[in-house]
Parts: sequence; structure tokens; C-alpha cells
Amino acid sequence: MLYTILLKSHSGLRWLLLFMFIATLVQLGRKAFGKADISVKSISLFTLIVTHIQFLIGLVLYFISPKVVFDAASMKDSILRFYLVEHISLMIIAIIILTIGYSKSKQYFSVPKGAKKAFYYYLTSLVLILISIPWPFRIPIADWF
Ligand code: HEM
Repeated sequence: MLYTILLKSHSGLRWLLLFMFIATLVQLGRKAFGKADISVKSISLFTLIVTHIQFLIGLVLYFISPKVVFDAASMKDSILRFYLVEHISLMIIAIIILTIGYSKSKQYFSVPKGAKKAFYYYLTSLVLILISIPWPFRIPIADWF
């Protein structure tokens, strides 16, 4: 029961997260490259928070999911290896990059230079997230929602 709720939340939250990343990158890009006079701090913070919530749900799933099998033999199976090692490690790297990007830029969001710095950190994090999501075309047992 708890597992199903967490799995559905984790799976569905990916869409909000991806939407927030794109919206944030558009705003950061407008400020950094178009010199638009807009505020980007709140949207950047919101994306950071959504990603951290996703991380916490993922962390609980990691210890209750039947797809995470703590056994050396899992390394020989591409799907078991994906859930045991690849998904968690790339996502943690993506979240660290995002968090560093936000904290390094937070005092400078009001100027285009700060937005530019954040833009590249958020973009790198998004690329890592996109390549480590278990998309059904890559991991046949995964779902779209
Ligand atoms: C931005 C970060 C993340 C995103 C966008 C994300 C996205 C997803 C998605 C879409 C699924 C597939 C759900 C399904 O098949 O319906 C999934 C599964 C899973 N994720 Fe994440 N994830 C993230 C971070 C993490 C982290 C940091 C961990 C561990 C600490 C984690 C642990 C898991 C586990 C264990 C599963 C398999 C659950 C199961 O099907 O039993 N995720 N994740």
C-alpha cells in the first residue's frame, strides 16, 4: 500500500519536475541572454524543492522496492543494475549539481550573470535526470505515469 502510493507519486512527480525544469530554464534564459527584467529566484527555488522531494521519495523506494535487489548477481542483469546502481547514482549527482547551482547563484539571481550561472547548472542537472529516468522504451517494466 505505502509502496504503491510512493511509486505512483515518484512516477507522476517526474512530469511536474520536468515541466518545472523547462519553465525555470526558459525564465533563466530570458534573464541571462535576453536581459529580461524578471525575477527568477522563486521559480528556481521551487524546482529545487520539487527535486528534493522526489529524492526523498526515491530514497524510501530504494529500500522497499522489489526492483532493488541487494545482491552481487544484480550487476549482471541490466534492469536490476539500473535500479540498484545507475538510477540512484546519476540522480544523486544531478541533485548535487542542482543544489550547488542554486546556492552559488542565490545572491546573484537579480543580475543576468547570476541567472546565466544558474542556467548552466540547471541545464546539466536536467540532462542527467533525463538520461537516468527509467523510460519504458529503455526499461520495459517501467511506466509512463
Ligand atoms: C530527480 C530525481 C528522480 C526522478 C525524476 C526519478 C524518476 C523515477 C521514475 C519515473 C521511476 C519509474 C516509476 C515507474 O516505473 O512507474 C523511478 C523509479 C525508481 N526510483 Fe527514481 N527518480 C529520481 C530520483 C531517485 C532517487 C534519488 C532514488 C533513490 C534514492 C530513486 C529511486 C527509485 C527507485 C528505487 C525506483 C523503482 C521503484 C519501483 O518501481 O519499485 N529515484 N524513478
